[in-house]
Amino acid sequence: MRLSSFMSFLIAVPLLLRATESSYFRDVQPILNKNCTSCHQPASKSSGLDLTTYGGFKAGGKRGPAFVAGSPDESLAIKFMTGVLKPSMPFGAPVLAAKEIDTIRDWIKSGGKDDTPREVTSIEPTVYHQPPVITAVRFSPDGKLLAVSGNREILLHNADGSGLTKRLQGKADRILSIAFSADGNLMVAGGGTPARFGEIQFWDLREGKLLRTAEATSDTVFGASLSPDGTKVAVGCSDNTVRVFETSTGKELYKISSHENWVLATVFGIDSKRFVSVGRDRAAKLIDANAGQFLENVNQMRGELAAVARHPKKDEIVIGGEDRVPYLYMMDRARNMKVGEEATLVRKLDPQDGAIFALDWSPDGKHVAVAGAAPGVNIYDVDTGARIASCKGHTAGIYAVAFSPDGTRLASGGFDGQVRLYRAADCTLEKAFVPVPLAAQIAGNGGAQ
Ligand code: HEC
Repeated sequence: MRLSSFMSFLIAVPLLLRATESSYFRDVQPILNKNCTSCHQPASKSSGLDLTTYGGFKAGGKRGPAFVAGSPDESLAIKFMTGVLKPSMPFGAPVLAAKEIDTIRDWIKSGGKDDTPREVTSIEPTVYHQPPVITAVRFSPDGKLLAVSGNREILLHNADGSGLTKRLQGKADRILSIAFSADGNLMVAGGGTPARFGEIQFWDLREGKLLRTAEATSDTVFGASLSPDGTKVAVGCSDNTVRVFETSTGKELYKISSHENWVLATVFGIDSKRFVSVGRDRAAKLIDANAGQFLENVNQMRGELAAVARHPKKDEIVIGGEDRVPYLYMMDRARNMKVGEEATLVRKLDPQDGAIFALDWSPDGKHVAVAGAAPGVNIYDVDTGARIASCKGHTAGIYAVAFSPDGTRLASGGFDGQVRLYRAADCTLEKAFVPVPLAAQIAGNGGAQ
């Protein structure tokens, strides 16, 4: 008894001395962003829980609300973080510092209020105190630039990682996918601000100018892809639709509602007349891009799908997701094949060590790069299915992977906030860098631009 009252005294003193109440926006969300949102986010809601927004935190996951205002000890988030409920969170990582748990506890205790600013008032260059999670990387078709997602911006780097050349600021908090037109003049980015709006940005790459934007749904959009003829952009949405926009006007042409869950990635066929969309309903769906009509399912359904990439010269795709296996499929089913037959399956690659989040096909068609929850990129020979190299160095999950246009280089990025450039032939690490200027660096050298 005595010991425990002494202990509560020790705990109470710092609580009493703390000057201000915890703020959700200033204190709590950054802790969740750093430790939890790699698994609890719109694109992969472990146990149904999205911790990227106040709304998601409050709504909770499969077990119900993640916090109970006023009662930290009854709050699921606290119970999971302190080991009262198992598995301990963050899953597979050490428990948070007591100070961080206390911050969240205090905030819940004082009522668990949302103080997120409602409006983006101006577009100031984002100031980074830590490297942001990287969700998209893509090389420009001329091979000179690497576009990398930032917070409320896209960063253009020299393709060899030798420097940041431009910061392109937009309204969307997150950029989840980047695509280029074949001539490299147009860059399209898809993303948005979680639980507020989805946005597609159309950039003039040469001028670094935002040509137009299109908004869709009240949540981020996923897996934007541009048709090879440059006329259309397809995006996946959290309202289970795929939406297609006209590049020249930004106008929404149509939406398709044949998926039964979030649509996370899209890719067009060679002739731009059809595309495939994949999502959490486990389906890869072939869509007539002109008529906006569902044609058929490409795959046999196994796990939730998060990524799709196409062979550069023929209508063959690779898909991957929750069940960790990359599947190579023909987009088309011969007339005499029945739906559900696996005759369109070309090949399965090795099961990965974690769920698949990102795929790319090399420009010569010979290789496929696979990345995801396990912190490495595996490169496969598509003809033999043999793994030819494993790119190491990332310390956490990878959300984006891309081959350079000449196929010699591979870029990857993810939760650890570092872009890594590898020699694609053997995964030799050429460069690792944080793609954003960090606040400390700005103070030191007067800015990284
Ligand atoms: C590496 C992935 C990962 C990270 C990081 C992670 N979680 Fe989880 N979380 C999971 C998984 C997987 C489950 C489901 C566990 C189960 O049901 O067995 C889960 C479940 C939960 C649940 C229960 C949700 C429900 O209603 O079922 C809560 C609450 C939770 N996590 C909070 C957190 C918090 C807070 C953090 C950060 C401090 C965090 N998690 C970090 C993977 C993760």
